Amino acid sequence: MSKKSVNGFSKMSKNEKLDWLTSNYMNKADTDKALFNYFQLNNDSLQKVIDGFSENTVSNFVLPYSLAPNFLIDDELYCIPMVIEESSVVAAAASAAKYWQHRGGFKTTILGTTKVGQVHFKWHGSQSVIKSIYSKIESFLLGNAAAIIDNMKSRGGGIQRTELLDFTHAEPGLYQIKVHFETCDSMGANFINSVLENFSDSLERFFVDSPDVPDEDRDVYIIMSILSNYTPECVVRAEVSCPVHDLGVFANGMLAEQLAEKFKTAVKIAHIDPYRATTHNKGIFNGIDAVILATGNDFRATEAAGHTYAARHGQYSSLSFCEITDGIFRFWLDVPLAIGTVGGLTSLHPMAKKTLEILGNPSAAQLMRIVASVGLAQNFAAIRSLVTTGIQKGHMKMHLMNILNHLSASEDECVRVFSYFDDKTVSFAGVRDYLARIRSSI
Ligand code: MEV
Repeated sequence: MSKKSVNGFSKMSKNEKLDWLTSNYMNKADTDKALFNYFQLNNDSLQKVIDGFSENTVSNFVLPYSLAPNFLIDDELYCIPMVIEESSVVAAAASAAKYWQHRGGFKTTILGTTKVGQVHFKWHGSQSVIKSIYSKIESFLLGNAAAIIDNMKSRGGGIQRTELLDFTHAEPGLYQIKVHFETCDSMGANFINSVLENFSDSLERFFVDSPDVPDEDRDVYIIMSILSNYTPECVVRAEVSCPVHDLGVFANGMLAEQLAEKFKTAVKIAHIDPYRATTHNKGIFNGIDAVILATGNDFRATEAAGHTYAARHGQYSSLSFCEITDGIFRFWLDVPLAIGTVGGLTSLHPMAKKTLEILGNPSAAQLMRIVASVGLAQNFAAIRSLVTTGIQKGHMKMHLMNILNHLSASEDECVRVFSYFDDKTVSFAGVRDYLARIRSSI
């Protein structure tokens, strides 16, 4: 198949785009095109909304929308929607939620809600001059941005402080104005970026006009203005705790004391070894991302912040902690979550809106508490499995269901296959062959 490049692709209709795609990149043009059409919505106005989220859209990509009930968080009971494709994540979250529901539930603390933006610029005058006039620069920038900030101020947010950072030791003339924001219930990316771009315009004007700037140093070069997705001051803690003897008895007869010690060591390994820490934190993000997606928040921003935070002491490490003190088992997670419950996709995507409704239309801070609790639940469930039965048992059960669906097994066949594989290793070929045997014996 020879592939043709294309001009004006974005101007083509959806149908034309699909024709071009299937004739250039797919084998069975007609059936493949029909498949794409199948995933477009019957509801035109809804499809228009979804298409508005991206460019060059030709179809929709469907993921499961699941529920994890029985999450007791700060004495409030939640049923939590999760969007994720990985077998057993939701089952694990629901199981950990139920387990902790009877042991006091999840307790959370907001450690901060400050977000950060940066104006990076170069100026080649004297360091002492720019430092001495910074308070005048700051007043000028804040004054000029008042119209943009006022609305956020009236909601209780705005700019908390700014600072001038000197990077001339690393790059000649390089400075940064670091701006600390409170964006209330919005994630705030648009607000922050608008303020920062307004700041950079004002900064140029200040250097041209101000009598405090020496005439030979009026040139300032704005490099860029953008929010930082690293938010170490926008952090929530979720924790669970109970007396060790209340932990119960685990798979294979493992006693509470043994479980607690083994669990604590497993968490410690994630503090010692980045290879384990990466997988450990991946398990936490299985839960976090699923709720972030279900609420229409930005999972890339959340992941980026979380992983940088996990490396803040110089080595990538666990986001969660475990201690056993005076017979009390305590397990907690500190995670940066710069998320919103107003604006962006949260109010545009119909399912994101539904998710927020199911969660009781939370504030951004409440949503941080919920998301962190799911991350901790996921981490708890993963480690509990790892130090008892291993994770493959649970995973393979879900995997078996996927294989059975793929092979179009009937309900009766599913029951027989599940019972047959109860004490056997699941593989696609094994299931396919056993199913064939059942079918041929009828
Ligand atoms: C799998 O998606 C996640 C786990 O590997 C996490 C972990 O090992 O802690 C089970």
